[in-house]
Order: sequence, then C-alpha cells, then structure tokens
Amino acid sequence: GVSGKKVNVLVVGLDNSGKTTIIERLKPRPKQSAEVAPTVGFSVDELQKGSLTFTVFDMSGAGRYRTLWEQYYREADAVIFVVDSADKLRMVVARDEMEHMLAHPNLRKVPVVFFANKKDLPVAMPPVEIAQALGLDNIKDRPWQIVPSNGLSGEGVDKGVDWLAERLG
Ligand code: GTP
Ligand code: MG
Repeated sequence: GVSGKKVNVLVVGLDNSGKTTIIERLKPRPKQSAEVAPTVGFSVDELQKGSLTFTVFDMSGAGRYRTLWEQYYREADAVIFVVDSADKLRMVVARDEMEHMLAHPNLRKVPVVFFANKKDLPVAMPPVEIAQALGLDNIKDRPWQIVPSNGLSGEGVDKGVDWLAERLG
C-alpha cells in the first residue's frame, strides 16, 4: 500500500511514566492491549499515522536500561519524552535524564514532545509547573511542546503526535 514517509520515533522517560501505555493508544483499537507490563530493554512497533509510517522505539525507563537510550539517538527523527505528572519526587531525575539526552552529540536537533502523562491523577502537577521543573524554557535549539495526556483514556495523545507529525511530514 501507500505507506508514505518512514520516521523513527524514540520514546523515553522514567520507568512507570506511561510510555508503553501511550504507544498502545496509537494503535488501531483491536490491536491495543488492555494491560501493559514494564518494558524489558526496549520494543519496536510500526504504526501508521496519517501519511507517515512511524517506527516507534519504546525504551525501558528502568535505571539499569537507560543506557540503552543513546543507542538510538543517531537514527531518531523525533523524541517523545513521557513524564508522570504525579511523580513529584522524581521530577528532578526526569530533568537530569532529559538534559543528559539533549546534550548527547548523537541526537540531532529533532522535535521533542513532552507528555505530561497521568493528568487524571488528583496529585498531578499542572503542565506549566512540570515545564518549569524540567527547565523546558532552556531548550532553544529545537522545537518542543508539552502536552497533558492520559495514557489510559488516550486523551491528549493524538494532539502530541499530530504536533510531531506536522514537523516530520
Ligand atoms: P517502563 O516500561 O518500565 O519504562 O514503564 P512505562 O513508561 O512504559 O509505563 P507503562 O506504560 O508500563 O505504565 C506504567 C503504569 O502506569 C501502568 O500501570 C499504566 O496502566 C499506568 N498509566 C499509564 N498512563 C496512565 C495515565 O495516564 N493515568 C494513570 N492513572 N495511569 C497510567
Ligand atoms: Mg514500557
């Protein structure tokens, strides 16, 4: 069929932030899993998004696997960085990993979507506060966007991915 342009999307963020859950919401409904387990290492999926074919690299966010992320920086055309909006304690860890990633020589100046995920939780920080905690205003060398999301319902997921697709088409 007419599959269009192929793009590599790297999905990173701390463990338990909701990366795999968000990716499930991008699949056609019959192919979505109801339950997800923590990712071991990483997994790759191919998804159709409008005229684009996304090759999605779903990385584990667990500490012992985070060193795998950089293996995929060179080929990434876009990054999705998922944050658990309710995980206030680890916001500083998320910032650290994010800054480390953006400073890596292999990552090109590709667009980054930050999903402020788990926005349904009562203790979720508002996206403005998350942007501040992560220091997103310091990112001046690439397009970025922060989008509140609910990986369970899928709310916000399309908005973030559409923003990416606009920059990749
Ligand atoms: P690793 O693979 O270990 O790096 O984690 P992950 O980032 O892929 O997280 P995963 O998608 O496995 O989700 C972790 C847990 O958060 C699961 O129990 C999900 O059901 C839950 N979860 C994901 N998104 C949301 C959300 O928006 N709201 C709530 N309340 N729970 C969510
Ligand atoms: Mg996962």
